[in-house]
Parts: sequence; C-alpha cells; structure tokens
Amino acid sequence: MKVFNTKNALKEHLNALRAAGKTVGFVPTMGALHQGHLSLLERARQECDVTVCSIFVNPTQFNDPKDLEKYPRPIEADIEKLEAAGCDVLFNPEVNEMYAGNENWHLDIGELETLLEGKFRPGHYQGVTQVVNKLFSIVEPNKAFFGQKDYQQVMVIRRMIQLLDAPVELVMCPIEREPDGLAMSSRNIHLTETDRRHALVLSQALFEAKSSFEKGATLNDVQSHAAELISNEGDTQLEYFELADGNTLKPAQAGSDSIVALVAAQVGKTRLIDNVIIR
Ligand code: PAJ
Repeated sequence: MKVFNTKNALKEHLNALRAAGKTVGFVPTMGALHQGHLSLLERARQECDVTVCSIFVNPTQFNDPKDLEKYPRPIEADIEKLEAAGCDVLFNPEVNEMYAGNENWHLDIGELETLLEGKFRPGHYQGVTQVVNKLFSIVEPNKAFFGQKDYQQVMVIRRMIQLLDAPVELVMCPIEREPDGLAMSSRNIHLTETDRRHALVLSQALFEAKSSFEKGATLNDVQSHAAELISNEGDTQLEYFELADGNTLKPAQAGSDSIVALVAAQVGKTRLIDNVIIR
C-alpha cells in the first residue's frame, strides 16, 4: 500500500493510474478502523480497479471539543489492517494540508442540517460537507463508499453531490454489527463493560421496532414503545428515536415508500447512533 500525506503527491499518483484507464473507488474515514470500515473497502475492491482510503480526523465536524480530543488515533494498527485488506492507497494528511486556516464557507443542505443529527450536533454536517467536498476534489473517485451506519450522512453527501454536480457515484453499504447486534463504531472502545451491556438496548429497540411494524403496529405505537424501552435502560440518555421518511428524514407517514428507524443516545459518557431500514 502506498501512503501519502500531501494532496499533490496523491493526485500525481492517481492521475497516472487514471491515464492508464483505472477506475478509482474511495472510502473516506477518520481511522480507528473496524470491520465496518473494512466492509466498505471490500466493496470498493469489488467494484473498482484501485481503492483509496483516507484517514483524517476532521476537526470541523466535531461540535464537542472533548470528543475531538479523545477520538482514537491508532494509525499503526490502521495501516496494518488496510494492508491486510488489500487497500492500494492511503491518504493520511495533517490538518494544515486540508485547511487553509479558518474556513467558514459552508454548503446549504437545507433541512437535513436541522433534523435529527443536525439538530443535536450543530455544525456537524457543515464540517462533513467541507471535508468530503475537499476529499472528492483531491481523489476524484469514480465511486465513493459510505456506510448506512451514518444514514443521514449518506443523505447529506447525496445532496452535496446533486448541488455541486460532482461526478461521483455514491454507494451505501450495510451496517456491520457485533455478534450480539451492537453496531460497530470507532467510539465503542470508550464503552465500559457496563456501558457495553446498556448499549445493546439501541439495536434491540430497532430490531423490535422493525418486527412490530411488520406485525401491523402503528408508527406511533412502534415509536413510543422503542423510546420507552431505551429510556428505561440504566445510564442511557435517549436523544431521539425517530421513524423517519427514508428520503426526506422528516417524520414518516403510514404511506411513506421508505421508512427508517433512527436512534441516538448517550450511553455512559459515549454518544452512539444506529438505525434500521423498516421498509
Ligand atoms: P467514520 O466514522 O470513520 O466512518 C467512515 C465510514 O465508515 C462512514 O461511511 C461510516 O458510515 C462507515 N461505517 C462506520 N461504522 C460502520 C459500520 N458499523 N458498518 C458499516 N459502515 C460503517 O463517517 C466518517 O468517518 C466521517 O464523517 C467522514 C465521512 C470520513 C468525513 O470526515
């Protein structure tokens, strides 16, 4: 695997590959890699000639400075995992390589910025679109691979691609879970043993929501039951449990074509999100 820290060296390398007719698949990450990230990479390898992964803990998307400070950065272990997974190129820039001082520009992504994660993490998606827009213009991928784990992020990137007419195909990949159901996340390492047990309630509530909806329960009943289940769990503060329209993320209607159940909660000191596609 080739590792680049500068935009220019990376661009030069990828330009040569493109000139030789190779397609580029891109997996942007913030590192602390787990099987969720690696599943995106596997998919990229299946669909493109060259796979590029980026590891960049993007400061502009952290609304909580403490979260940024304690974000795990095990770069050596990450490089080993990427090598073992057959990744071709790693882009691992420093902050000053990505940002020219204080950048205040942002893209107007409309209501996506005020709903759900947007509401609870003000400014988060402005930071995400800033960095992903920069990464797309550096890497110029044919396809970019994102996880359903961050469902709203996929919608945000889709909107960004529309607004900027970016020549990239967005691919959403399924959520990788631990055997007991917990969605894999770089933040799971912050969970104590007790937190880890409490955290299970999130996926349990989501799976239960899906099965009771399939058995005919109303959206209201499904939502209030799940919210109650999570609120009753020890040391767990529910931020939202929402049945949302899968296309707009506004509250789902009985007739919505696509419905997603999305949850965010603070478990101990760690904030976790998860979701399940209900229909
Ligand atoms: P990060 O949280 O590192 O996630 C990188 C990618 O891995 C995202 O597309 C995310 O949805 C996906 N992912 C995380 N956990 C997953 C799981 N359990 N199963 C499947 N995919 C999973 O998302 C970001 O970084 C950043 O916001 C980024 C897009 C890199 C911009 O800074």
